[in-house]
Amino acid sequence: GLKKKDVNVLCLGLDNSGKTTIINQLKPSSAQAQDIVPTIGFSIEKFKTSSLSFTVFDMSGQGRYRNLWEHYYKEGQAIIFVIDSGDKLRMVVAKEELDTLLSHPDIKHRRIPILFFANKMDLRDALSAVKVSQLLCLENIKDKPWHICASDAVKGEGLQEGVDWLQDQIR
Ligand code: GTP
Ligand code: MG
Repeated sequence: GLKKKDVNVLCLGLDNSGKTTIINQLKPSSAQAQDIVPTIGFSIEKFKTSSLSFTVFDMSGQGRYRNLWEHYYKEGQAIIFVIDSGDKLRMVVAKEELDTLLSHPDIKHRRIPILFFANKMDLRDALSAVKVSQLLCLENIKDKPWHICASDAVKGEGLQEGVDWLQDQIR
C-alpha cells in the first residue's frame, strides 16, 4: 500500500487532564497499556490513521516538567491540547499555559493546527466544550486552524472526531 505520511504531534495540557489516556485510546488495542500512570518527563508514542502515521510527544503536564515542552515545539507539526473540563479551579492555569505556548517564538508565526479536547465530559459538573473555549478565549486564535471536541477518554468517546479533523488539516 501507500506509505503513510509521518507527522510529529505534541500532546500538551495540565497534569491529570487525560493526555496519556487519550493517546493510549488511539493506539491499536494490542498496543494499549492497561494502567496509566502520571507521565514523568515525556513519552514517545505512535498511532496511525488512514493516511498518516503520528509520532506523539506525550509530555508530562506537572508543573516541574512543563519547562520541557518548549524544547519540542520546533519539531511539532500539530498540537493536541487537553483540558480537564471538570477542573474549574485550574482553568486559569490551563489558559496561562496555552497563552505561553501561543506566544512562543517557535509557535507564534506558524500555521500549526491545534486540536483541543475538552476532556472528562462524563464528569457530572464538567463544563461544555463551548464554555471551555470561552474561558480559554480560543476565538482569539486567528492565525492557526483550531478545533475543540468534548471527549471522554476513558470510554474513548469524541476522540475520533478530533483525529479526523487533525488528519484533514495535515493532508
Ligand atoms: P500527566 O501525565 O501527569 O500530565 O497527566 P495526563 O494528562 O497524561 O493524564 P492521564 O491520562 O494520566 O489521566 C489522569 C487521570 O484522569 C487518570 O486517572 C485517568 O483515568 C483519568 N481520566 C482521563 N480521561 C478521563 C475522562 O475522560 N473522564 C474521566 N472521568 N477520567 C479521565
Ligand atoms: Mg500523561
